[in-house]
Amino acid sequence: MNGINWSELTFGYMKTDYNVRCYYRDGKWGELEVSSSEIINIHMAATCLHYGQEAFEGLKAFKGKDGKTRVFRMEENGKRMISSSQGIMMAEFPVERFEEAVRKVVKLNERFVPPYGSGASLYIRPLLIGLGAQVGVKPASEYLFMVFVTPVGPYFKSGFKPAPVCIMRGYDRAAPQGTGTIKVGGNYAASLAAGTKAQSKGYAAVLYLDPKEKKYLDECGPANFFAIKGNNYITPASNSILPSITNKSLQQLATDMGLTVERRPIAVEELSTFDEAAECGTAAVITPISKIDDLDENKSYIFSKDGEPGATCEKLYKKLLAIQTGDEPDPYGWVKVIE
Ligand code: PLP
Ligand code: COI
Repeated sequence: MNGINWSELTFGYMKTDYNVRCYYRDGKWGELEVSSSEIINIHMAATCLHYGQEAFEGLKAFKGKDGKTRVFRMEENGKRMISSSQGIMMAEFPVERFEEAVRKVVKLNERFVPPYGSGASLYIRPLLIGLGAQVGVKPASEYLFMVFVTPVGPYFKSGFKPAPVCIMRGYDRAAPQGTGTIKVGGNYAASLAAGTKAQSKGYAAVLYLDPKEKKYLDECGPANFFAIKGNNYITPASNSILPSITNKSLQQLATDMGLTVERRPIAVEELSTFDEAAECGTAAVITPISKIDDLDENKSYIFSKDGEPGATCEKLYKKLLAIQTGDEPDPYGWVKVIE
């Protein structure tokens, strides 16, 4: 069906059948509209184009062995989009309506949910943009919320194989009291130069340090960071990183597996004491880190010598996927079946 080679999919855009849209005008949200167009028609003075009034989300749907489609933790994404909206003064799209929009767009594009066992999933991309024409720097009075979907494979081409990352102190993705904790487009624009430079040197991603002191680990461009040390799961506490829903889920799974979770500032030098290191996020899932090269200090921290993931990362990865696909019970109420 579809002629799609599911197991060869990369993390890219593919046209699907429908997207859903909802407009905020005259102080209220309208009805959810279904569209088959990939195009949006907006005013040239829209605030999203000039002043970065744009936030987005990312979540996934998985096909189970039982043929059912499950979406992972969409309520959390809905709540995070509200906090992004508050951060850049946009109209808030209610969480129940966010969930309704996600259900609808997944259902309408059911034929694009990759089959169980293909290693692919349906990536769901909600976005919210300021539409009203404005030339002065102020919030728009009109907004568009929309959701499209696209089937995807792994974000990093290595998939669940360790990949190298680097530290470069010359770049920040967010300011100390800035927008790092919300999911707004500007953070990603700010990460493009460093990300492109890192990739040209053969790294999968940049591991950013805290922008104030450059002493502590923050996160990677598109994913959070965690490390394993003995029986501990260690992940940064910082006021310039995105609160990752995957990381939060892994902390729960780690706790239930008997690991001790530490969420605290992590000094760069501590890297030399870790047994395993990884990136985590919706797109990245868990991407183990083979080594971290500190390009300014000329130091290298190695986590995988044989090209294989560490045992704890692998255990967490398998557990997370088993819950997402419905292979194992979901005692946390994280997955919602799309009927
Ligand atoms: N950090 C950044 C900067 C991200 O873009 C993402 C992706 O959403 C994450 C972390 C991981 O967050 P989540 O697990 O909610 O997808
Ligand atoms: C995600 O993991 O959903 C992300 O948004 C990361 C990246 C594609 C921006």
